[in-house]
Amino acid sequence: MTTYLVTGAAGFIGCNFVKYILGRHSDIKVVILDALTYAGNLASIADELHDARVTFVRGDVGDRALVAKLLAEHDVDYIVNFAAESHVDRSITNPRLFLETNILGTQNLLDCARHAWTADGGGYLPGKKYLQISTDEVYGSLPKTWDEPHPLPVTDDIRRVIGSRSDMKTYGDRFFTEQTPLAPRSPYSASKTSADLITMAYHATYGMPVNITRCSNNYGPYHFPEKLIPLIINNILQGKKLPVYGRGENVRDWLYVEDHCKGIDMVLRGGRVGEVYNIGGFNEESNINIVRQVIAIIARIMRDEPHYQQLLSCPLEAINDGLIQHVADRPGHDMRYAIDPSKIARELGWYPETPFSVGIEKTIRWNLDHRDWVKSVTTGDYQRYYDEMYKNR
Ligand code: NAD
Ligand code: DAU
Repeated sequence: MTTYLVTGAAGFIGCNFVKYILGRHSDIKVVILDALTYAGNLASIADELHDARVTFVRGDVGDRALVAKLLAEHDVDYIVNFAAESHVDRSITNPRLFLETNILGTQNLLDCARHAWTADGGGYLPGKKYLQISTDEVYGSLPKTWDEPHPLPVTDDIRRVIGSRSDMKTYGDRFFTEQTPLAPRSPYSASKTSADLITMAYHATYGMPVNITRCSNNYGPYHFPEKLIPLIINNILQGKKLPVYGRGENVRDWLYVEDHCKGIDMVLRGGRVGEVYNIGGFNEESNINIVRQVIAIIARIMRDEPHYQQLLSCPLEAINDGLIQHVADRPGHDMRYAIDPSKIARELGWYPETPFSVGIEKTIRWNLDHRDWVKSVTTGDYQRYYDEMYKNR
């Protein structure tokens, strides 16, 4: 029996991770610790809360007494720390909260685990591991070499990751590897970098069994509609303008969330202690192209499957690129992220399985089929946030 403590599992990636591990391993217990901030929703783990293998606790990762009690009571083997303030735009308006949750929260988890996992004769109890969920944003911003996507330059290392796939593309000839110097540029990414550094400090100083995973932009079910893809889907259905920062030329490397979850579980179970693993989709796209693709797919689904048209607050003909509205750019907006996941492919056999065309269709259909979930997370607070963030932009 392996016991996972998963923090932040009422959020986007955390809830997908809990679904993933419960579906794949029968001999596990899962303790969820989540503060249920605006980004945490019990509706995202409604089924899992009824699973006898799951215990849910509402609380703060920075609460020392609570975390120590959970570790003592549940004989936890793996801690997977998803809990974070995760939205770059919010970090620009309220940086302090990001430092508190992302840095001090991480340090608290590490310190509680260090004490709980220390063996009587010294060293650590066997089988324990702390996994810090980090981000490609810690590496800063890459330049764009090309304005249009190019086929991926296929080195031997990359061929080992993608096999004979030809759908993967890039806007540049440089990628983030685990050796790339850390160079965060937003309060969010600076806080995540600090969390990575304190995690590695606990490994170097106290010998803590840790790993760090650094992933690119995820998309998929249960994605909170303040982030680009779910926000665009939601706005299209409501016939609202689609806010694109600046010219929409910034590039992100999109990864289907289930592929990320698989990589995390592989690192937990097989990653070498003390190592960092990059996880990315080899699927770069500019924001403007992402928005255009989402518009085109929704318009096609509405035409071909007219029963979905009841979800629209505007005429079908209004769903076109005319909805796009270029708005003021994000301050310090990173131009391009691009992960080279060769290390996790080489050592653990992971690769990004879901082509973007498949993943985006699944994501859009999930959003069409789960309007109750979307409604439940876009209550009064969301409307206030939306007005403040976009009103005078
Ligand atoms: P999210 O914002 O959807 O969810 C965050 C969760 O953490 C929520 O359930 C929230 O209630 C919880 N939380 C916040 N503060 C807490 C606290 N003090 N104590 C306990 N719980 C708290 O985030 P996400 O998009 O699922 O991201 C999860 C993790 O993955 C984050 O650490 C993020 O930095 C990282 N990451 C995200 C992406 C992405 O594309 N979304 C990519 C790479 C890495
Ligand atoms: O790269 C990993 C990171 O991806 C994670 O660490 C973060 O937690 C996650 O939020 C995400 O960060 P981004 O800032 O890249 O994601 P976001 O969805 O906010 O924005 C994606 C791109 O779209 C970015 O270039 C900004 C742009 N954008 C975003 C929003 C919300 C717009 O043009 N319009 C918008 O309304």
